[in-house]
Amino acid sequence: MKSKLLRISVLILLYVIPGISCTKRVEIDRTREKFVNSLLSKMTLEEKIGQMTLYTSGWDVTGPVLNASYRKDILTGRCGNLFNAHTVSYNRELQKIAVENTRLKIPLLFGYDVIHGYKTIFPVPLAEACSWDLELIEKSARLAAKEAASAGLNWTFAPMVDIARDPRWGRVTEGAGEDPYLGGLIAAARTRGFQGDSLSDPLTLAACVKHFAAYGAAEGGRDYGTVDMSERTLREVYLPPYHAAVKAGAATVMSSFNELFGSPATGSRFLLYQVLRKEWGFHGLVVTDYTSINEMVNHGYSMDEKQAGEQALTAGVDMDMQGGVYQNYLVQLVKEGKITESLIDQAVIRVLNLKYDLGLFDDPYRYLDDQREKDNTFSIEMMAHSLDIAQKSIVLLRNEPFNGARQLPLSPAVRRIALIGPLADNRIDMLGTWHAAGDETHVVTVLEGLKKAVSESQIIYTKGCETFGEDRAGFANAIRAASNADLVILAIGENYGQSGEAASRSILGLPGVQQELLEKIVATGKPVVVLLMAGRPLVIPWMAQHVPAILNTSHLGTRAGDAIADVLTGKYNPSGKLTMSFPQNEGQIPVYYSMKNTGRPLDPANKYTSKYLDIPNEPLYEFGYGLSYTSFKYSDLKLSSKQISMADTLTVTVEVTNTGFAAGEEVVQLYIRDLVGSVTRPVKELKGFKKLMLQDGETLSVKFTLSAGDLRFYTADLTYAAEPGKFRVMVGGSSVKCLEGGFELVK
Ligand code: BGC
Repeated sequence: MKSKLLRISVLILLYVIPGISCTKRVEIDRTREKFVNSLLSKMTLEEKIGQMTLYTSGWDVTGPVLNASYRKDILTGRCGNLFNAHTVSYNRELQKIAVENTRLKIPLLFGYDVIHGYKTIFPVPLAEACSWDLELIEKSARLAAKEAASAGLNWTFAPMVDIARDPRWGRVTEGAGEDPYLGGLIAAARTRGFQGDSLSDPLTLAACVKHFAAYGAAEGGRDYGTVDMSERTLREVYLPPYHAAVKAGAATVMSSFNELFGSPATGSRFLLYQVLRKEWGFHGLVVTDYTSINEMVNHGYSMDEKQAGEQALTAGVDMDMQGGVYQNYLVQLVKEGKITESLIDQAVIRVLNLKYDLGLFDDPYRYLDDQREKDNTFSIEMMAHSLDIAQKSIVLLRNEPFNGARQLPLSPAVRRIALIGPLADNRIDMLGTWHAAGDETHVVTVLEGLKKAVSESQIIYTKGCETFGEDRAGFANAIRAASNADLVILAIGENYGQSGEAASRSILGLPGVQQELLEKIVATGKPVVVLLMAGRPLVIPWMAQHVPAILNTSHLGTRAGDAIADVLTGKYNPSGKLTMSFPQNEGQIPVYYSMKNTGRPLDPANKYTSKYLDIPNEPLYEFGYGLSYTSFKYSDLKLSSKQISMADTLTVTVEVTNTGFAAGEEVVQLYIRDLVGSVTRPVKELKGFKKLMLQDGETLSVKFTLSAGDLRFYTADLTYAAEPGKFRVMVGGSSVKCLEGGFELVK
């Protein structure tokens, strides 16, 4: 009892009281150390390995089913952690086995992929990133954690922070897009959101930054594919978001499936020891991705699973997800002297530290409260946020006049609307990939949202076709509906399984016969608004030419239909900006804004410059792009000085005016270009942004500050430093349209 009280007070001191002194922290760490070491000293080798083992609980249509052998493994201490087990009643039953029936009574961790919501689903992460609203993004993670932790979970396999520049890769939808700076800020926001101020708070989850590292750079965009790049590119482009999440306090890191520099990430001592532990000082837990130790055999890096286990542990992997390799081979490896028990101890200490920090040793049932689960599932707060963030994730790609008038926001004169498409009255696909326990029965479809929002108008709904397959039987009805309407809204794109894991695509047009349907509807001569719902940037050159209005909605989650209706009617003025470029065609991939200039930059008048014969160099829609129902003018870019020293700060100001007839939000973006470096620099790099609300006619002065610290990069000898020289500053509403200025950095 006394020691329990002591531990509680220690937890309070460590995590609840802000500004706690360094000495106190050291003391507290010592208390944890003492507790964990004492527990460790009582553990058999098999029990230790059990703590390094993570298995999935099966999930049946009617509810969870734990494979009988896992139940036995928990009982015998051979499995200390589970994932995919959720709900209070089920997890209580499992926790009970661990803490009431095992020898050492060590509680289980319960992990789950709470990527963009648990039951109430928010937009897929790539869509949410388009809000450029860090507070709101943090809130999404905060609320997702609240709902999930209330359902008995204490660990999420998120945030996914892989930089992605190839939309053929289906998992681009799980991350924040192409840019390391924005990606880093979002990674930190999501980490803070999941973990809150205290891991032991029963409304938070331990975060797991994934997939470490560079999983997003798979060759050809083929999932699980080979990754290879220079160390400079790795450090400059791919590592920053992982690092940002680690700096934000992420409790755990997941090693990725891919190889990098010829070693699978799960066996890479360079990544897991040199970078993560030595350079970044990460003390938390490293877990593998699903069977990624076993897969080192297929990679051709290990001759068998036993060797793979040895390599993974030596590299720095603490916990084996689902592979059973540690469980099967570690005892033998110790006996053979291939690994030391002290290496195992280090891993076990990290697992036990996490359990301690989560407060599980004080109360293993702290996440298991039936009332809390009831109160926090689909709560008013969750549903309200689901609408708010969904509205802000929508990007208006095009809004050109048709017969002399813009179609959006919808005019009250539009009385008959034909709502067509496989995603128009669809619940499940609104949830997008990895929708956890997302409950489709709560989803508001576009049809439902629109009916509420424009109750005066007549809505004729017809599906037209599926998101896949060749069936054109619904075309005739769709054409008839369109012909009889004043305006057509077409909800088309990808279903939830057409992006995400194991969903790479080589042709990025609309899947199935949707393009044909689109062309037939446009041929009716009626004004068309497309709701583009996909997990990735699609290739849509025809649409971009022939359809007057396009909203990129992506997969918006539970309140999708309400959010879309609000944007269609103008109740919410769209403010999203793309965080991943839309290519002109697949041959242009990779296309991203921060490219290098080359020795022969594009000159349309000169054949022998860097370009294509058949398409422009620019993407169809660039990073940072997104329209509004109002318009913004940028003027008066001013730099506080023409020259700054390494210790100075430069102030950049710009005037932004809302020149239209509606209030609206604008994301003001600041880019720089380092003109000459010891290694070549990109033509543009995002270094700051501000999101502001401007009333119609209003002008605001926006101020940014830059210092030498913001100008650092990996120089010729891989030192992270700023080099003296000339810089360009560009400020605007996208990565293309910018006002420009310049300054010099001097020693
Ligand atoms: C995915 C991870 C995920 C894990 C557990 C893997 O297939 O790559 O992102 O966290 O499964 O569900």
